[in-house]
Amino acid sequence: MNIAMLGSGFIARFYADALAGQRRRDKLTMVYSRSADRAQIFANDYNVTHHTDNLEEAVNHPDVDVVVIALSNELHLPAVEACAKAGKHVLCTKPLGRSGEEAKRMLQLVEEAGVMGGYLEDLCYTPKFLKSLQTVQSGGLGRILWAKSREAHPGPHSDWFWDKNKSGGGAIVDLGCHCIEIARNFIGKNIKPVEVMCWAATQVHPIDAEDNAIGMVKYANGAIGQFEVSWCFRGGMDLRDEVMGTEGTIWVNNFLRTGFDVFSTGKGGYVAEKAETNKGWLFPVGDEVHELGYNHMFTEMFDCIENGSQPQETFYDGYVVNAIIDAAYKSAKSGIWEPVQLDDWRGDTDTTDKAEAASYDDQYYLIKEEVLPNGEKKIILKDKKTGEVVRRDI
Ligand SMILES: NC(=O)c1ccc[n+]([C@@H]2O[C@H](COP(=O)([O-])OP(=O)(O)OC[C@H]3O[C@@H](n4cnc5c(N)ncnc54)[C@H](O)[C@@H]3O)[C@@H](O)[C@H]2O)c1
Repeated sequence: MNIAMLGSGFIARFYADALAGQRRRDKLTMVYSRSADRAQIFANDYNVTHHTDNLEEAVNHPDVDVVVIALSNELHLPAVEACAKAGKHVLCTKPLGRSGEEAKRMLQLVEEAGVMGGYLEDLCYTPKFLKSLQTVQSGGLGRILWAKSREAHPGPHSDWFWDKNKSGGGAIVDLGCHCIEIARNFIGKNIKPVEVMCWAATQVHPIDAEDNAIGMVKYANGAIGQFEVSWCFRGGMDLRDEVMGTEGTIWVNNFLRTGFDVFSTGKGGYVAEKAETNKGWLFPVGDEVHELGYNHMFTEMFDCIENGSQPQETFYDGYVVNAIIDAAYKSAKSGIWEPVQLDDWRGDTDTTDKAEAASYDDQYYLIKEEVLPNGEKKIILKDKKTGEVVRRDI
């Protein structure tokens, strides 16, 4: 696969490290940057055949099969327009759009052009996430009740993130997009997100957007997805997920305190994304590109283009995430649960709550059983007819 990279900044380099860092058959053949000098530096660093400061030229070049969008948020839509017009497959970084409306337009563009729209949600491709998802999907946790994802760091590295018009918002659109899609995968992508309750505040930085937020996304089957995001967290990048099912639990720490701790003089150089120091006790990441999911993500995307199938994360998923974010922003303002506006819903339409009480015998439901420190076993039951709650000691 011949790849054009649009953008030469932070994420473009992470992507290029994934694409060019190991021996593989896909190749970066083109890089676009608005600065011709940065395009050239990037081309030299990653051995890219062509470079340009003209986006149309990059997308339309005959040596390009697929385009990766690694540009600031306000440029995702125009870049997708250019790719659709050129009939090129397109993979776009997160968030897909600055709003549900923008994301929906991007989805329409790729579908009308008949090209693949892959959503580069890397945190749904980390080795730990893929293993967790497999466990959940095989029923290892029973019915999923609650899935929480937290992403917090000291704030982004480029000016445009802090400008609400260019980025579409603050920590919710920037980090919440990851958390929402992580929880949505665990709860089930076919289950409709119905409404959102969100608190958001600007607690530290002199900006118009939020730098802290917590939100709950209610799903049609009664499950709750929770996101916690911050641009104020000190001490690195906190990426943690928790999944609670009727039969099991998963806790994932993706980045800090993963069992790899180093005490250092500071002579070791770069430690990990958003690490605030390289001295003292450190929590480095062995292979950041791999552990952040970039390798698995691109491999799946290119496999899907080759065999004409849909990847795990598509523009449709990006659109659903943006629609949930829109509801979160509304709720943060109104202070009440706000509905998720999904004009284009492609999942289950049965919206009944799937909660089922466990049956103990013909007469009772089982509420709880527990072995006490003295070895006694207690069983708490509810009469199916009368509703009476009773205790049985065994
Ligand atoms: N984990 C992830 O998936 C992840 C991590 C970081 C960033 N991102 C996303 O990647 C995208 C880029 O973020 P970044 O961190 O690389 O930012 P960055 O500022 O480092 O790079 C942005 C790129 O966009 C270009 N650009 C900005 N404004 C432009 C303009 N007006 N015209 C032409 N080019 C312009 C810059 O020159 C640069 O090449 C964003 O959408 C961001 O949300 C994703």
